[in-house]
Amino acid sequence: MRIPADKVDEIYRVADIVEIISDYVTLKRKGANYWALSPFVKEKSPSFSVNPAKGIYKCFSSGKGGNAISFLMEMEGYSYPEALMHIAKKYNIDIPETEADENYEKNKNHIESLYIILQFAAQFFHKQLLESEAGKSIALRYFKERGILESTINTFQLGYAPDSWDALAKEAIAGQYKEEYLTESGLCFPSEKTGNLIDRFRDRIMFPILNATGKIVGFGGRIMSNKEKEAKYINSPESPVYHKSQVLFGLYQARNAIREKNLCILTEGYMDVLALYQSGIQNVVASSGTALTEEQVKLMKRFTKNVLLIYDGDAPGIKAALRGTDVLVAEGLSVKILILPDNHDPDSYTKAYGTEAFLKFSEKNAMDFMDFKILQVKEFMAGDNSPRTESERIQQLAQTLILIPDSIEQQMYVRQTAAKMNIPEEWLHQSMATAKIQLQQQEVKELRRNNQPKEAPLIEMKTFERLDTASQEKELLRILLNHHDRVFKVITEPEEGGEPVTEEIPVTLFFISELDGVTFDNPLYETIKEEIFRHYNSSTPFMINRFINETDAQVSNLISELLTHTHSLSENWLKYDMLTPSLDHDLQVAVQDSILYYKYYRILKLLQETREKLKTATPEEEDELFESFVFLTKLKNEIEVQKEIVGAVKPDDVHL
Ligand code: GTP
Ligand code: MN
Repeated sequence: MRIPADKVDEIYRVADIVEIISDYVTLKRKGANYWALSPFVKEKSPSFSVNPAKGIYKCFSSGKGGNAISFLMEMEGYSYPEALMHIAKKYNIDIPETEADENYEKNKNHIESLYIILQFAAQFFHKQLLESEAGKSIALRYFKERGILESTINTFQLGYAPDSWDALAKEAIAGQYKEEYLTESGLCFPSEKTGNLIDRFRDRIMFPILNATGKIVGFGGRIMSNKEKEAKYINSPESPVYHKSQVLFGLYQARNAIREKNLCILTEGYMDVLALYQSGIQNVVASSGTALTEEQVKLMKRFTKNVLLIYDGDAPGIKAALRGTDVLVAEGLSVKILILPDNHDPDSYTKAYGTEAFLKFSEKNAMDFMDFKILQVKEFMAGDNSPRTESERIQQLAQTLILIPDSIEQQMYVRQTAAKMNIPEEWLHQSMATAKIQLQQQEVKELRRNNQPKEAPLIEMKTFERLDTASQEKELLRILLNHHDRVFKVITEPEEGGEPVTEEIPVTLFFISELDGVTFDNPLYETIKEEIFRHYNSSTPFMINRFINETDAQVSNLISELLTHTHSLSENWLKYDMLTPSLDHDLQVAVQDSILYYKYYRILKLLQETREKLKTATPEEEDELFESFVFLTKLKNEIEVQKEIVGAVKPDDVHL
């Protein structure tokens, strides 16, 4: 895949970072930036920010950052060209097809190879279903018997895995696909006896599982007979591209309908999705037999905040509904629950009574999640109204109530719940307080168990002993990145009489002259600084957006961090007792101060080094060292007087 340069330019021009990121998280405007809960980590308060003017995002929880393209690379696991293609598609930019390269497979990276082989397998299964004898007579007939339409078979790329030990493996190897990808994708595994590859899915109807961008990441395979010994469904094992907790079956096909209807219907099974979809209810997905996870909820949240859970009314169904509810509520979604009668699932219900009846039933019986919970709680040990049981009921309600993130909504629910349970609100509040503490303790335990390494503090240096210039370099770089294309005015008072002279100095030029011959201690900072200087010296515009993609992730993360002004940053500066130049209100002051403070810290560092050297110096060396010591101390004192620095670094440590 090659994208012509002019198309790349066009993609950069039209890509709107707010629009692109809004496909994944709900952004809220605050001042010049947008904020959201990070899509990368679990968090309660937003640390993910987007700066539309600069076209960059920064996630302060995970440290990730970059532009719209690197966001897509991070979020979707795209390669650079794939991310560009995604944007081209979104904005209807035509990319001319280039001829398929013969070595395409071989040259693609690992992940892409897995996608390719999974796609190949889906085609193989699909073809087996429609064209092979067994496929037609057994599998296709099974689908027909279950009322699955041809259009559904095509939309979901359904297939049939033949009744053979290695039909897929053989076909793939004949097609030059590598064995390692067959095993890594979970499609095959080596026989323990012979080491030959064996197909995982045999004599099963096949459901490809797609990720949110439509790539096949795995399969579910259903047995067609009632062989007692074998599992009804087999799913692909976890692989570098398939994480079962992170996909929802049907989401890709349902995404537009979910957006349009502003509702996502969540069912339990593959067959339910197919049945509803083909009866015209297309905003439907399935969690495919696993308990609903936070990641899955986040996926749904990209498209809507309203969810209807449909579960069958047996005990495990109700338990799953309750558990699912809590995950959804905690993510701030508005949740309704529909329990179908007589152990029907959506598939069997629509088949028995038709779509109309289903819709009618759903409209009448879909219950607000809290009402559902109240109903369950009332049925819990029904008839037993002992204080202990009552208290248990209230605790169960409290456990859900504390999950509601919006405090006003929470209060409304508390009020309603108290009324419906016929108890004072106060009792709920008390239980909620206890439940919150329990939840926190649980979270702390989990944190400990995962033993997450703490993020390094923003600024490590505090004492003289650990003096380094990293934070000053960082501040210089921050100003340089933010203002490299600006000029600042310097007004020089005339000697005597005459007009004051105003001079315009480009920020970058000022930095170049002030930092002549300086190499930053931190190599990352040095790379960026030099890149900006290089562009200035060759009169080519420094385009941050471009640079972010051309450089490595570490550098682009750093750039995004520096381009994002945050409260948290300045708070940290204060906390660590650092000297902070005022945040750029006055460009000239900001630029000059950043240089001055940088120099100040370099002087301190040199002083420290000189003092160290003096300890072991010969008499001749001593003279020279002492001279520079005096000189540096003088410079240091001048700056301290000028900037009224007191005690930032203990003066005693510096003087001999
Ligand atoms: P039908 O029985 O054909 O209507 O399929 P269904 O999709 O409605 O299945 P069911 O309601 O029994 O189960 C719901 C979902 O749980 C299925 O779609 C599967 O994702 C999953 N599931 C069911 N049985 C198994 C199993 O034996 N193994 C695994 N891994 N998953 C299963
Ligand atoms: Mn079913």
